[in-house]
Amino acid sequence: MSASTTLFAANWKMNKTRVEAAATASDLAARLNDFHAGEVLLIPGFTCLEAARSAIAGVPAFSLGAQDVYPAEKGAFTGEVAPGQLLDAGCAYVLTGHSERRHVLGEADEFVGRKTAFAAAAGLKPILCVGETLPERQGGRLEEVLTRQLATGCAEISSSEGLAIAYEPVWAIGTGVTATIQDIVQAHAFVRGWLASRFGANGDSVRILYGGSVTPKNARDILAVDNVNGVLVGGASLDAESFAAICLA
Ligand code: PGA
Repeated sequence: MSASTTLFAANWKMNKTRVEAAATASDLAARLNDFHAGEVLLIPGFTCLEAARSAIAGVPAFSLGAQDVYPAEKGAFTGEVAPGQLLDAGCAYVLTGHSERRHVLGEADEFVGRKTAFAAAAGLKPILCVGETLPERQGGRLEEVLTRQLATGCAEISSSEGLAIAYEPVWAIGTGVTATIQDIVQAHAFVRGWLASRFGANGDSVRILYGGSVTPKNARDILAVDNVNGVLVGGASLDAESFAAICLA
């Protein structure tokens, strides 16, 4: 995989019924039927995976991912979903450590690291999400937080193959406040440097996505930034017209 294949990821979070997911996915598949500018990744809730999968089947640029995974093969983990179950549902990708899981559900760094490694070993491509809160940024702790989340998130993976990182400043998620281009340049360069120190030359092919209030209006400028290899889009991905406009920006 090359960092040059731009990844456009739609994180639908806890939204949509199966009928709604199928409708949005079909609409996107029609709009982006011959899309060549990158890979379009739909990340619906678990109950909507099959609806989205069948709507995008056979459309070349599209793939499917899940929002979370549990780091065990199977067993007594009520409410959780295993990597093998996600592969069986047609997922190629999975998010790990999304800020809502860290900050709303209380997931610890080490747990995110176990998920990332377990998912990768099972054959899923993890998208490890990292990002600082506003107090952390204002306290000058951006690099410290990113280093900690990257180091713990990647602690148990043996190679960078299939790995992507999503830099999502927590204060920009779902708020309508986008990081400035300068903020994005700085954070993505820092993540790229960290990847080089951890994975050597292979760190160059790890895609780094930006996430946090990406819209059709700002997508082009964000995607033009060095070391931005894609976007992870929440709110603006729920509507097919808006997400297609981001992919075509
Ligand atoms: P947002 O969410 O685009 O609504 O800010 C991004 C994300 O949380 O992945």
